[in-house]
Amino acid sequence: MHSRLGMTNLLGAIGNTPLVQVNFKTNARVFAKLEYLNPGGSIKDRSALYMVEEAEKQGLLKPGGTIVEASSGNQGIALAMIGAVKRYKVIITVSEKISEEKLKTLKAYGAKVVICPATNFIDDPKSYHSQARIILGKTPRGFMPNQYFNLKNPEAHYNSLGPEIWQQTQGKITHLFAAAGTGGTVSGAGKFLKEQNPKIRVIAVDAASSFDATRGHPKPYKMEGIGIDFNTPCLDREILDEIIPVADDEAFVMMKIMARNRGLLVGTSSGAVAHAVNQYAEKFEDGDVAVMIFGDSGRAYLSKDY
Ligand SMILES: Cc1ncc(COP(=O)(O)O)c(C=O)c1O
Repeated sequence: MHSRLGMTNLLGAIGNTPLVQVNFKTNARVFAKLEYLNPGGSIKDRSALYMVEEAEKQGLLKPGGTIVEASSGNQGIALAMIGAVKRYKVIITVSEKISEEKLKTLKAYGAKVVICPATNFIDDPKSYHSQARIILGKTPRGFMPNQYFNLKNPEAHYNSLGPEIWQQTQGKITHLFAAAGTGGTVSGAGKFLKEQNPKIRVIAVDAASSFDATRGHPKPYKMEGIGIDFNTPCLDREILDEIIPVADDEAFVMMKIMARNRGLLVGTSSGAVAHAVNQYAEKFEDGDVAVMIFGDSGRAYLSKDY
């Protein structure tokens, strides 16, 4: 990754994002990990790169191959960027609820995008998950990272996000708040942090009308990248102390407050995470250090949610 000049290539610039303090009315110190400053604009750069490079090592993805993935947008964008650098073709299936900005970003990176209807259940043959599998079956030299079922996804965050947070807080973190989509972020980073200090509380933030939050009776929601919609091995419930469900409106209110009053132009899942921290405010004790993962930028949602 690193050349002799001490410079790094684009993919070497993934990770090592800033951790900044954010003013909240609580006696904890609250910090945001700005994952939108990754080169592809989201937390998903980390897991996408790790899954691709592990597949290369295992011979599952070879030069001239095609990456096929189902994505709410950011995983696809990360894969499209990585594909552009490593010269792989990339096909991404998305749900029709994807923001216009994410759709255009995928295309700008040269990915082929297949738009599928928004379904409540993963096994619906029309869902973007089912469609990705069908496309994979028809694609020679195709590889599907399969972020919901690939344990390299949480491992990526165990190896990079967790250690960064531990170092940046000098081991003082007491609470981790992260949105759960696949659950890879919160489970992987949370596992690393609990191994350093078992007292750290790991809190996943879910969409209030997801499959999990409604115990199997999901309703559509507008937030993207968040929502536990099926049982995935990437979500390790042993690591989680709590799951906080957040509704669209609650997330959107906090998302706008973050932009207007804190200068943090973040996406919908970050709004949900900030809402969860706000809701938790009275439970913090003096000296607590809370870290929120801000997964992507509000620029992806300007025409839709701002
Ligand atoms: C903006 C954003 N935040 C959070 C997440 C959730 O991350 P994970 O899939 O690791 O649970 C995603 C996943 O797509 C995302 O795009």
